[in-house]
Amino acid sequence: MAKEGDNTKMKAMANKKKRKIKIVGTGSYTPEKVLTNADLEKMVDTSDEWITTRTGIKERRIAPDDQATSDLGIEAAKLALEDAGLAAKDVDLILVATNTTDTPFPSTACWIQKGLNADHVPAFDISAGCTAFIYGMIISEGLILSGTCKRILLIGPEMLSKFTNWKDRNTCVLFGDGAGAVVLEESFNDSGMLSSYWRADGNLGDLLLLPGGGSRTPVTHEVLDQDLQYLQMKGNEVFKHAVKRMGEAAVESLKRAGLSREDVSYLIPHQANIRIIDATGRRLKLPPEKVFVNIHKYGNMSVATVPVGLDELAKGGNLKKGDIIVMDAFGAGFTWAALVYRW
Ligand code: ACO
Repeated sequence: MAKEGDNTKMKAMANKKKRKIKIVGTGSYTPEKVLTNADLEKMVDTSDEWITTRTGIKERRIAPDDQATSDLGIEAAKLALEDAGLAAKDVDLILVATNTTDTPFPSTACWIQKGLNADHVPAFDISAGCTAFIYGMIISEGLILSGTCKRILLIGPEMLSKFTNWKDRNTCVLFGDGAGAVVLEESFNDSGMLSSYWRADGNLGDLLLLPGGGSRTPVTHEVLDQDLQYLQMKGNEVFKHAVKRMGEAAVESLKRAGLSREDVSYLIPHQANIRIIDATGRRLKLPPEKVFVNIHKYGNMSVATVPVGLDELAKGGNLKKGDIIVMDAFGAGFTWAALVYRW
């Protein structure tokens, strides 16, 4: 009878032969303006000590008033294309994962397509909370391996500063702006995406939502008076789900790849709170040096945290061929997902 260990080995071997997609370029961009915890102390009743110990955040980047989410996405996309040695016209899909669209319509993807002069390249947005970059990787895998697309530009730009109530200390200390991007193609060697796991639970949507501005609660003077145009979060409830689900996604995606926690070179977790990041690392029993952290510099950039983390790891010269990376996220919806990638 086959043992559990044999099954894992067989899965790993099958995965080596499996067709997969790979990342051929990465890029990231964060606005210049830095907002520190000391700055926030002047805006709301908070302290550097509270923010640091409860979240791990020291500072975050804030986009200028005259910029929109697509402007950040365009910068990250240009860098990813440059890294891949390609031009915008060389991709056959622009996929944008974001919660903070330029406009309800057209999509942010179409605004970015215009900014990149990528005329007639199809473009659309994915909405899946902070998990949308990983959802985008899974969608891209399907489109590339089915032959629908040869090359996809996947961008995760986010500008939560425009949707944050700067008078609400429960939320305004948490978020920052930024964007990450990757260029994806089919892989013809060992490197690439080995497995994934994605889930959602719409029953818990009320715990983290932006109530105003959609068809359920269109913008009116009353909506603005109640600050419903800003995001709302039951932080401690979200925290418990995030810890549980990010652990589940990491474990399940590794199982699907036929790999174990000992094989992991790096975990790139969504950067929402250092305590959630640490708990996910502990779930995989990883030493701290294998758990990527940049939350102290940027806060929670929502969808952008995973692709920015990947770009920083890659450009920092930390990744070597064959490294096993787990990307893992949780966000509004709720949604949660992880993928395993061989560099
Ligand atoms: N400064 C000082 N005190 C504060 C602040 C602040 N900025 N914010 C809240 N407090 C107070 C609260 O009022 C409360 O005071 P009380 O006990 O007198 O009522 C106390 O601190 C504790 O509040 P909690 O909400 O219980 O604090 P908690 O330890 O849960 O930390 C936090 C809050 C940081 C928001 C945490 O719950 C968290 O990170 N949650 C998860 C966030 C997340 O994962 N989001 C998912 C992705 S985001 C996305 O999809 C866009």
